[in-house]
Amino acid sequence: MIADAVLLNDWHPVARSTDLAEAAVVPARLLGEDLVLWRVHGKAMAWQDLCVHRGSRLSLGRLDGDLLQCAYHGWTYNELGECVRFPAHPDQKPPSKARVVTYACREAYGLIWACLGTPGDVPAFDEWEDGAFRKVACGPYRYRASGTRAIENFLDVAHLPVLHGGTLGDPAHAEIGEYQVREDGDGIEARDVEVWQPDPDGTGVGKSVSYTYRVVRPMTAYLAKDTDEGRLAIFASVCPVSELESVAWFWLAMNYGEEVEEGDLVAFQDRITRQDIAVVESQRPERLPLDLQAELHLRSDRVAVAYRRWLRRLGVTFGTA
Ligand code: FES
Ligand SMILES: [Fe+2]
Repeated sequence: MIADAVLLNDWHPVARSTDLAEAAVVPARLLGEDLVLWRVHGKAMAWQDLCVHRGSRLSLGRLDGDLLQCAYHGWTYNELGECVRFPAHPDQKPPSKARVVTYACREAYGLIWACLGTPGDVPAFDEWEDGAFRKVACGPYRYRASGTRAIENFLDVAHLPVLHGGTLGDPAHAEIGEYQVREDGDGIEARDVEVWQPDPDGTGVGKSVSYTYRVVRPMTAYLAKDTDEGRLAIFASVCPVSELESVAWFWLAMNYGEEVEEGDLVAFQDRITRQDIAVVESQRPERLPLDLQAELHLRSDRVAVAYRRWLRRLGVTFGTA
């Protein structure tokens, strides 16, 4: 088990709820740990993907009624992870130590969240319960990169006019205005982050738009873009699969643009994220440097600077240098 207590005790998205059907048994990976996810009577479970008999993967197994049965010799486990049957010795009662390591698991925002330690609350996503906002699932997006690098990219405003020139920005208007960042124990917030966009509200007219960025957990961030049309928010939670692999799960929440097809919104986000992934995977060092002397920072990098400082203060070591 890793030493990073902050990420161990946090919730991380490991699957979409719809990908874990009733009676499904699927593998996942979190913080270098192989998990088996399974569902019975509507309840999702996340266990270590390891049968205590000979260490084979339980995700190769199947449901037997409401029990999970290992594919190899059929040891069968109940919802608590206790072995209740050895098929080779049907009259022998399994001892109490014949039990699988189980983890905290819950569902929120259409995602399955797992925690390898002692969790608090799932990060807040205010628009989720607000019926005025249409929600569109994007991803999962796989990065061969640290989750901290992926989140920092999500928070980075100065790349919009360059890497996403023509869509989220315009290289001829690359200047980023002044903005303030507030940092406290609960996270980071930057308001009134202005950037010029070529066509922010679909009228074909370029103008400056205002972003709000929030970091609510080390691996979960939020942005909101406000225009005359309304608000587009993105809730982004990145699963740290291993130190240098991550999977991002996004929700778009919009209170305008009902006429735009969901497929078009997803295709646009896919295109933007592909541009991001190529750059994020190229970044060296691969672990996000928390020592602020290690790289050069400009005023427009304030959110990233605050993020690195906050991770350091929290003591996040997984995927950081
Ligand atoms: S390895 Fe699972 S039953 Fe033998
Ligand atoms: Fe980007």
